[in-house]
Amino acid sequence: MLEIKDLHVSYGLVRALQGVSLNVPDGKLVCVIGSNGAGKTTLLRSISGLLKPSQGSIQLAGKEELVGRKPHMVTRSGVAHCPEGRRVFPEQTVTDNLILGAFSTMKKTGQAEMRKDIQNVFTIFPRLQERREQQAGTLSGGEQQMLAIGRALMSRPRVLLLDEPSMGLAPVIIDEVFKRLAELKERGITMLLVEQLAFRALGVADYGYVIENGKIMIEGEASKLMNDPRVKEAYLGGG
Ligand SMILES: Nc1ncnc2c1ncn2[C@@H]1O[C@H](COP(=O)(O)OP(=O)(O)OP(=O)(O)O)[C@@H](O)[C@H]1O
Ligand SMILES: [Mg+2]
Repeated sequence: MLEIKDLHVSYGLVRALQGVSLNVPDGKLVCVIGSNGAGKTTLLRSISGLLKPSQGSIQLAGKEELVGRKPHMVTRSGVAHCPEGRRVFPEQTVTDNLILGAFSTMKKTGQAEMRKDIQNVFTIFPRLQERREQQAGTLSGGEQQMLAIGRALMSRPRVLLLDEPSMGLAPVIIDEVFKRLAELKERGITMLLVEQLAFRALGVADYGYVIENGKIMIEGEASKLMNDPRVKEAYLGGG
């Protein structure tokens, strides 16, 4: 679904991505694990069109080149980005946040379809239905994360990008978030997850990449990476 080749991204003199290549096959959950500053957010922001790569390509479904497209056009192509730190609209209700998530597709789907999509999000995250009239800013961190994922799903993405959904959450809430990601995978949603919590991410992913200083150092089946001594050594205690 998503094929990235030799991606280079810099912030001035800081070379944040140095030749990253990776694949997200249809219906799979792929994770990129790496520590602070490794380049994970940079990777997702580049896919979404928020950063401009100096070199490389990002192909969607084997035919659409995303490099050079404006962010709203990337969204319209079917890439949804659930950003680092969640960024829900705090003053808006849960339902209004979901409606805003549908904005990119509303032209195609119409009101009735959108209501169905909201119901669908409520089926996946029942807590959001209970809180549907509540201001998003008053939700707990875990609930806000569910809302951010739900909002991203409202655009009916072909691929969902998730930036550290575990950030700032208590361990039991992290369990819950990862359970939901496993359910989304069961529903056939294609996902690219970036995480510092290596073992949590590998526990839910099909395939994994390890990124360090803007370069992919190790890749493989998630179950194999989990037992890889290099990964164990680098991420012991990393969730
Ligand atoms: N706006 C910016 N200007 C300059 N350098 C930046 C900027 N944003 C990120 N960087 C640098 O690029 C590198 C990659 O940052 P990035 O945010 O992608 O890391 P990350 O893997 O998402 O880290 P974290 O796990 O802490 O979120 C870091 O060295 C960072 O300092
Ligand atoms: Mg980050």
